[in-house]
Amino acid sequence: MESQIIEIDVADWQVANSNPARIAGLEAGKVLYFPHLPFALLPEERGLLRPDIRDPKVRNISLDAAGHLKGASGDTATQLALALMIGRFRSHAQSLVHSLLPKYKDALRLAPTSFRPTQVETRAQSWRADDRRLHVDAFPSRPNYGERILRVFSNVNPDGVPRVWRIGEPFETVAKKFLPRAKPYISWQASLMKTLHITKSCRSEYDHLMLQLHDGMKGDMSYQESADQITMPFAAGSVWVCFSDQASHAVMSGQYMLEQTLHLAPEQQYDPQSSPQAILARLVGHPLV
Ligand code: SIN
Ligand code: FE
Repeated sequence: MESQIIEIDVADWQVANSNPARIAGLEAGKVLYFPHLPFALLPEERGLLRPDIRDPKVRNISLDAAGHLKGASGDTATQLALALMIGRFRSHAQSLVHSLLPKYKDALRLAPTSFRPTQVETRAQSWRADDRRLHVDAFPSRPNYGERILRVFSNVNPDGVPRVWRIGEPFETVAKKFLPRAKPYISWQASLMKTLHITKSCRSEYDHLMLQLHDGMKGDMSYQESADQITMPFAAGSVWVCFSDQASHAVMSGQYMLEQTLHLAPEQQYDPQSSPQAILARLVGHPLV
């Protein structure tokens, strides 16, 4: 398998010049890896790196686009310090993406920024929620009609512990494997799920198929083991960027990560034809949204 990782050795969150090969790689579903791009914590922020800073009822601590902090435990001073740290990471992530991908700058829609203080290995989950299995991101309750999920990840582990991912095969290969097993899209069921508030809006055929790929991959243990894949330890002090709705990924171990999600309409890509929506539409032979 061709390498799914493009390494970029810059040490500044403002990348000096944009580079067409990197952009094409990212839009082909590869992961851009910046091994030497630490998000430096302020001395007073180091105390925020503890797992019990998260409210046990939620999965991650997050700062939403409006600046509201969710999912943290602790007093007002702690919550303020967390919001400032996560907000500072948000600015860094935005300047990285804007300098790397200038065409996206005015087209991106800001989604929440998360802080993930939990040790991955200790998380117990249902198979569907288990991100230790290879998958492409697709959300059961929030249909997105083909809107892209671009994510910036930063390993802020203070003890040099890497965040270990597995990275699987290209999206089209995954789609060709799992589309034949996908349940058909039934539009009245999509409206029923909206009426019952199972979904926030009506699932499109695109959303249905993306979930079928997500569940198909996670539910197939022999695929998990035998699919073409690499194990990738993202170093402490590194950053990586990918379209997580396209890059097949799984997280195996690690602790303390910051993550920024940005949404993008596929028409705003450098090459809209490389989007999952375009690939799936070509494979099934009709438009999906
Ligand atoms: C995921 O998006 O599947 C999880 C990534 C991570 O927590 O490292
Ligand atoms: Fe994921």
